[in-house]
Amino acid sequence: MKEKIKQLAKKKNAIILAHNYQPPEIQDIADLCGDSLELSIKAAKTDADIIVFCGVHFMAETAFILSPEKTILLPNTDAGCPMADMVDPISLAAKKKELGNIPVITYVNSSAAVKAVSDICCTSANVIKVVNSIDSDEILMTPDKNLAQYAAANTSKKIHLWDGYCPFHNTLTSQDVLKAKKDHPKACFIAHPECPPEVLALADSIQSTSGMIKFAGESEHSSFILGTETGLLYPISKTYPQKTFYPASKKMYCKDMKKITLENIFDSLENLTGEIKVEENIRKDALGAVQKMIDL
Ligand code: 13P
Ligand code: SF4
Repeated sequence: MKEKIKQLAKKKNAIILAHNYQPPEIQDIADLCGDSLELSIKAAKTDADIIVFCGVHFMAETAFILSPEKTILLPNTDAGCPMADMVDPISLAAKKKELGNIPVITYVNSSAAVKAVSDICCTSANVIKVVNSIDSDEILMTPDKNLAQYAAANTSKKIHLWDGYCPFHNTLTSQDVLKAKKDHPKACFIAHPECPPEVLALADSIQSTSGMIKFAGESEHSSFILGTETGLLYPISKTYPQKTFYPASKKMYCKDMKKITLENIFDSLENLTGEIKVEENIRKDALGAVQKMIDL
């Protein structure tokens, strides 16, 4: 199946992009695996005719926002992000008005319609840079309250929170981390900024998923506890087979990130099913927010 997919992708001039949380067999056939920022930059730059996005819905939508002339395929359209569903454009516009029209920073884990009513997007890799680029002392951040609190702790700006969160990162507790540290006393603890503030307070480093891979390579430590979705264990262990990685908690398993199969990818490429598009007036407004982030 892996060989058949590669041949078909070549024949159709398609590129396969996979998020770092995707199942191992999908990461193995992808042309690029990465975090949300790397995947959006690649989606904006590629000259392929088709992008097969192995991730969740908002990622494929972002690829379409950036490259509407291309065919964007999400091989299983059931793959969504529960956090992205925690904000909608009408409630967000109302909140922005209530706060006196202060700028809105929206995490890429959001729908195109939400991005369209936002000033700029951010990812876990660039959130502090994006916050500091805003010409206002007050900002509304959506949908992730944990990412917003992490940004607030690293800037003098006042950040208003939206009550959204990743149902998996948000379940990690300080007790889980203290237990993992006790079990692996020499390991360095790296956390994703979607984790709650009390967990981030225990971290040796706070990183996006690709940031974790880079950090582990540069660190003198030989073992690490990962405070993120357990899918990252595969690419990080594959990159550094001589180092050891432990999950901070096995609870951090995102079912949506595991919905795409090799069979889905083959069918989607062969029959062009699972195509993701965004209405042009929404796309244009959303592009403003995404492009500002990419330019930065
Ligand atoms: P990054 O890979 O950008 O750190 O994002 C994590 C995530 O939750 C994607 O859904
Ligand atoms: Fe969304 Fe969390 Fe799953 Fe990422 S891990 S797709 S933020 S629910």
